[in-house]
Amino acid sequence: MKRGFEIRLDGDVMVVLWRCEICGDPYVGDSPPKNCPFCGAHQKYIKVAKAAKVTFDVNLNAKDKANAEHALKVEVSNSVFYFCAANKTDDAEGKLLFKALGKIEAEHANIWRKILKLDAMPSGNEKCHTENKENLEDSHARETRAIEFYSRAAGESKDPRVKEIFQALVEIETDHLKLSEERLK
Ligand SMILES: [Fe+2]
Ligand SMILES: [Fe+2]
Repeated sequence: MKRGFEIRLDGDVMVVLWRCEICGDPYVGDSPPKNCPFCGAHQKYIKVAKAAKVTFDVNLNAKDKANAEHALKVEVSNSVFYFCAANKTDDAEGKLLFKALGKIEAEHANIWRKILKLDAMPSGNEKCHTENKENLEDSHARETRAIEFYSRAAGESKDPRVKEIFQALVEIETDHLKLSEERLK
């Protein structure tokens, strides 16, 4: 089995530079994380940095461009919502959860900003709730809409890189859906 780390004779673990092929961000660690700490992409997208294939330079057809623009809006809206919820929600663990999700959604917005070759990130203006349960329900609705949209967009794209990003985002947003479902039980 190919291992991402080596144990040296002195017992120390050698750290390795990894790179996420979805968001492009680098990570230092002894083994590839199960999920990218920045965008949440699954481990299959995390490669030794030198071998990682990452590009944001894609020729978008009209359909992909429209979908990428919508994706950017969705991610900006969701990240602003999550940061709002992180501040206002009336539950200590909820604050941490929404902060983590806000950071991940902001990273997703950044992927689409790069794909669309925009210099600046558009701003968002979202409301959130003080009651944690209401924020979890809002999160659930947002992630459900995102998954439906990304699944459709992945099916519509003929560009392998655009398709790969949409598919990876379906997996990540599905993980987020499970987080709210567990807490709403
Ligand atoms: Fe990533
Ligand atoms: Fe996202």
